[in-house]
Amino acid sequence: MASIKMVNSRIGGTGSYIPETILTNQDLERLVDTSDDWITRRTGIKERRIAARKQFASDMAAEAAREALETAGLSPADLDLIVVGTVTPDRQFPSCACTLQHKLGAGKAAAMDVSAGCSGFIYALSVAHNAIRCGEAEHTLVVGVEVLSSVTNWADRGTCVLLGDGAGAVVLSRTTEETGIRSIHLKSDGAYGDLLYAVDVNGDQSVRATLDRAGQAKPFYLVMDGHSLFKKAVHCLEEVALATLDRARVAVEDLALLVPHQANLRIINALAGRLGLAAEKVYTTIHKYGNTSSASIPIAFNEARKSGRLAPRDKILLVTFGAGLTWGAALVEWSPI
Ligand code: ACO
Repeated sequence: MASIKMVNSRIGGTGSYIPETILTNQDLERLVDTSDDWITRRTGIKERRIAARKQFASDMAAEAAREALETAGLSPADLDLIVVGTVTPDRQFPSCACTLQHKLGAGKAAAMDVSAGCSGFIYALSVAHNAIRCGEAEHTLVVGVEVLSSVTNWADRGTCVLLGDGAGAVVLSRTTEETGIRSIHLKSDGAYGDLLYAVDVNGDQSVRATLDRAGQAKPFYLVMDGHSLFKKAVHCLEEVALATLDRARVAVEDLALLVPHQANLRIINALAGRLGLAAEKVYTTIHKYGNTSSASIPIAFNEARKSGRLAPRDKILLVTFGAGLTWGAALVEWSPI
């Protein structure tokens, strides 16, 4: 009797793009009432990158995608699906993913955005993983990209010191081997939506109206209750990390690396402490890029690969938390081509 092969997905390539312009804590001292000492102690951030004026999410996503495709040994024409996690797309519509598809020349790929706050990349990864598992796609591109500088209130010291721009991408492909994405777990709770949201200059949270009644542009920006989020974040991250490890039947001791969303070094350290994970098993980029929302995990993952931190069969836990609230995690077994 012929055996039925299990279909799974695996990450075959990774890429990232970081804008050139560096905004340091010292630069921010000249903008708001803050200090390098406060930002470093309370967040771990020393500097962040800011996109150029005419540089859109799809531009940065295309750079990250090209590197991911190259490392996977694939061309844009091989892609069946593109999923982009972002809360700062070029336009309300069409999606950033469709613009990206056009820029890459990925003619046969279906393309869509996923909006899940800082969890956008893990949510997008889940969409692509399940499209592969149900036979709809063989090769997919998953991107996390943000131009958070475009929704930053530069007069609010509670948020402007945290945020940065960037893009990260992975190519997720079909495999029949028992490797790759071992489990993904997603969670949401809209009851806490008021802890982090977008609002316009008149206090209107409906960002669909981009002109006010007088026909004036209504720019919107991010508002956050950082203190309450902090407490929720640590609890939610631990919960979803443990559930994802449990589903994959992987023990904390067997993890080679934790690649968490980079929101605050104190949150990351608190999570590692609760999991009982040594500091050298935690990959961080927050000191140089700040919080890049959906982009932070794929950027860190790519840098971990490039710096030789990933060995074949290594088990890596990706875990995130963000606006929504949303949170989620993926257990990845590293199996490059
Ligand atoms: N510089 C100097 N002082 C500051 C600054 C600043 N940049 N920001 C706040 N303060 C002050 C406050 O005004 C307050 O002063 P007060 O005691 O006189 O009232 C004091 O510092 C403490 O403020 P807290 O908000 O309690 O500071 P906390 O230690 O909580 O740190 C922070 C604030 C960094 C925002 C932290 O709460 C945090 O990281 N929260 C989680 C953020 C997060 O995870 N967001 C989710 C994802 S983000 C996304 O989706 C884009």
